[in-house]
Amino acid sequence: MHLGIRIGVFDSGVGGLTVLKSLQQTFPEAHFVYYADSNRAPYGTLDTETIWRYSARIVNYLLDREVDLIVVGCNTVTTEVIERLRANYAVPFVGIEPAIKPAAQSSSSKCIGILATERTLNSIGYTRTRDQYASECKVIERVGVGLVEEIEKGIIESAALNALVESFVIDFEEQSIDTLVLGCTHYVLIRSLFSRCFKNPITLMDANEAVAQRAFNLATPVKQVQQMVECYTSGSTQLLRRIIDHLEINAVTKIEQLEL
Ligand code: DGL
Repeated sequence: MHLGIRIGVFDSGVGGLTVLKSLQQTFPEAHFVYYADSNRAPYGTLDTETIWRYSARIVNYLLDREVDLIVVGCNTVTTEVIERLRANYAVPFVGIEPAIKPAAQSSSSKCIGILATERTLNSIGYTRTRDQYASECKVIERVGVGLVEEIEKGIIESAALNALVESFVIDFEEQSIDTLVLGCTHYVLIRSLFSRCFKNPITLMDANEAVAQRAFNLATPVKQVQQMVECYTSGSTQLLRRIIDHLEINAVTKIEQLEL
């Protein structure tokens, strides 16, 4: 049992809360500090240096809060700058990357779809993983244009979001994929919308559980405390609260606006 550990989690916005949700189950006694950079989202179209600058600012804050471990709840930050974060900070980092390896292994048709941000799909980290683990698959890659922006409005069920998801699904169905990787933590928030839009059976994959497991393997016990979740955002606290409620994240002691 990993008791009393302090874990920092961050994302460009509210998507990383899906990772926090998985971590909560794995670390029942942890103190979480979550930062959503909603005011600057999406990160997925920014250049690497800007993603680095924003990420470093958040990491500095989380270190001020004396976290023992940082979970990067953002595929874009992970695939772009996690190596640089590891080289510059002594704290252990756990990142999240599109679940391409399990998707390639479990697909029967060997035709899989990857939906992610532009930066993730163009990153060296992602292409290396794809070439290593999915060389026997046909991989259909699409940028989820507009999805993060819609989700950051805090409306998980809207006609606009529905139409957007529908358009991606039609495209993927034409390509006959049997597995779709949700390669951005924001998309995990609308997993059920994807399920509903596919007419044919589809396996949806994300890496959230794998990330929680990796964090568990890295963490060391401290002392026993009650689980506690502090949430900060550079954007709207209302939006953050709405997504926290939607995911039924419990033990939340603070939701505050914080500009870094
Ligand atoms: N949740 C982020 C990810 O997993 C979204 C990136 C963005 O802000 O575009 O990539």
